[in-house]
Amino acid sequence: MVQILFVCLGNICRSPLAEAIFNHQILEKRLQKHFLANSCGTANYHIGDPPDPRTIRNALKNGISIQHQGRQFDPQDFQRYDQILTMDRSNQVNLLRLPGAGAYNHKVKLMRVFDLVNKGADVPDPYYGNEIDFQDVFDILQRSVSGLVRSLQADIKAS
Ligand code: 4NP
Repeated sequence: MVQILFVCLGNICRSPLAEAIFNHQILEKRLQKHFLANSCGTANYHIGDPPDPRTIRNALKNGISIQHQGRQFDPQDFQRYDQILTMDRSNQVNLLRLPGAGAYNHKVKLMRVFDLVNKGADVPDPYYGNEIDFQDVFDILQRSVSGLVRSLQADIKAS
């Protein structure tokens, strides 16, 4: 079982959406016995909170339902997870600054290394944005998660 962790700042907009899109694609491809996904934030602002209502609404409009309770990254997650996908550079720097992170550098990647459009860019934070920004994040994450799933499927086949 390969474990994937999606990370953003608050864990109410981008990373719970990435997790929900991932779970949706994995179910569609009947790969659920291979992968387990979760999400978290680097900040502690929204521990225990449901995802942002704008994220939930936008995801539903795109056929995806989200169930998640906000949680903060725990340094033990470095060991627990096989791939840790950060939404932007600031999330990545926050993780890599944590004590003991050095041994796990190889697990931490930017989500958009898997995007075919603007590969390696940040997933923009939609928190202070409008509906168009939430849809933009949805489109980015749908493409990036597709790329991630293709890469994971190739890993399974190779192993
Ligand atoms: P997220 O967005 O990192 O995509 O969950 C944010 C959510 C909340 C805040 C910032 C970003 N905040 O400042 O509370």
